[in-house]
Amino acid sequence: MTKLVILVLIGSLAAIAFGQTESYVPPQVVVTTIPPQPPVTTTESPVTKSTSKTTSTAAPVTTSTTTATTTTTTTTTTTTPAPPNSTTTTTTTTTPAPEPPKPIEPSEGIWELSYPNSTKSCVLLQFALQIEVPYDATNNKTYLAYVNVPPNASANGECSKTDTQMIELDWLNADNKTDTISLSFVKNATSKVYRLTDIKASLNPDNKNFPAIANASALSLTHEHDEFKTTLSKSYKCAKKQELHLNETDKKPRGSIFVSNLQFEVFQNSTNKQFTDVEDCAPSDTPDVVPIAVGCALAALVIIVLIAYLIGRRRGQARGYLSM
Ligand SMILES: *[C@@H]1O[C@H](CO)[C@@H](O)[C@H](O)[C@H]1NC(C)=O
Ligand SMILES: *[C@@H]1O[C@H](CO)[C@@H](O)[C@H](O)[C@H]1NC(C)=O
Ligand SMILES: *[C@@H]1O[C@H](CO)[C@@H](O)[C@H](O)[C@H]1NC(C)=O
Ligand SMILES: *[C@@H]1O[C@H](CO)[C@@H](O)[C@H](O)[C@H]1NC(C)=O
Ligand SMILES: *[C@@H]1O[C@H](CO)[C@@H](O)[C@H](O)[C@H]1NC(C)=O
Ligand SMILES: *[C@@H]1O[C@H](CO)[C@@H](O)[C@H](O)[C@H]1NC(C)=O
Ligand SMILES: *[C@@H]1O[C@H](CO)[C@@H](O)[C@H](O)[C@H]1NC(C)=O
Ligand SMILES: *[C@@H]1O[C@H](CO)[C@@H](O)[C@H](O)[C@H]1NC(C)=O
Ligand SMILES: *[C@@H]1O[C@H](CO)[C@@H](O)[C@H](O)[C@H]1NC(C)=O
Repeated sequence: MTKLVILVLIGSLAAIAFGQTESYVPPQVVVTTIPPQPPVTTTESPVTKSTSKTTSTAAPVTTSTTTATTTTTTTTTTTTPAPPNSTTTTTTTTTPAPEPPKPIEPSEGIWELSYPNSTKSCVLLQFALQIEVPYDATNNKTYLAYVNVPPNASANGECSKTDTQMIELDWLNADNKTDTISLSFVKNATSKVYRLTDIKASLNPDNKNFPAIANASALSLTHEHDEFKTTLSKSYKCAKKQELHLNETDKKPRGSIFVSNLQFEVFQNSTNKQFTDVEDCAPSDTPDVVPIAVGCALAALVIIVLIAYLIGRRRGQARGYLSM
């Protein structure tokens, strides 16, 4: 008896499993498989198998088959709505604010400015200059824009005064708006020196360098510190890259100027348009902190490794004596 019960149980389980797999595998082909349906129809008539062949003989049987097909179609309709739902959810995506392009190294340019109605030059200027400006995009992220002064920027300025001279470089940005940078110099005739007193930059946010804030009003940035003291009738020269911090018009810090291959001569008065005697930027003026730091770190590392080695060796020796 128990064996029979077990057999029946196994059989029923197998049947359930078989029925489940059958119902799972063909969700669309269920119409052709009538096996799950017979249990319902057995109560009415055992001639269900013949109905598939002879449909014209029994009218009530055909109705039972139609109900079967309708039930299967309802099951298929309940399963189909899922894909459209998933597709509609994927369409809701937020568009990120465009990022500005990666910085490219500025090219070196050389500019010359002459005294009014004269062939004699007052300012000779050479540099590769990049302005780095942070700005807030619409997604509340802060990006860095990099604006290079192009070598074909045009030079204007003011050389008519005896103690101050100024050179201004103008160029068109990607949106055909005029960007400018100006450098002002002051001469001290008594001490026979001149120096840079301020740099002013005006940048129009364009679509290329300032995406997401294009067409915003021009940025006015200044560096107001005396820099690059030079003996009169000499030129100042500094090849290495130097950073000069910038302020916005409201005196808040914003951005930097990175200038390299710098050379200028102001309060000049010659027709040959050449730099004369050179005063190179002294290495002591701007100590290279990074190489010194790297050197110290390396020295510390060497000492640590040496100490570790010595300790290890001493322990090894101690252990060696113990084992003996
Ligand atoms: C449809 O999507 C909503 C939310 O995106 C979810 O709650 C629901 O369960 C989904 N319905 C189906 C049938 O997947
Ligand atoms: C330069 O020359 C123009 C005419 O050629 C004259 O009008 C102008 O006043 C001159 N400027 C100076 C500073 O001499
Ligand atoms: C940006 O920040 C402001 C205030 O801090 C907030 O109201 C706004 O929702 C933020 N916008 C985004 C896109 O995060
Ligand atoms: C300067 O050079 C750029 C390309 O390097 C060019 O697109 C632009 O028209 C030039 N501007 C002038 C005023 O020549
Ligand atoms: C800028 O001007 C030049 C010529 O004047 C034109 O070819 C170019 O399309 C303009 N660019 C923009 C962004 O307006
Ligand atoms: C020029 O230099 C001298 C000597 O260093 C100094 O006394 C004088 O104040 C300076 N003049 C100006 C305008 O800075
Ligand atoms: C900026 O203005 C120009 C012309 O005025 C327009 O074509 C462009 O779409 C504007 N850009 C943005 C980001 O508003
Ligand atoms: C920025 O402005 C402050 C306040 O006036 C000033 O102390 C600082 O020197 C300025 N920095 C530059 C780079 O001009
Ligand atoms: C330039 O030098 C000439 C003499 O060589 C002099 O007459 C002229 O005034 C000087 N100009 C300036 C702006 O110093």
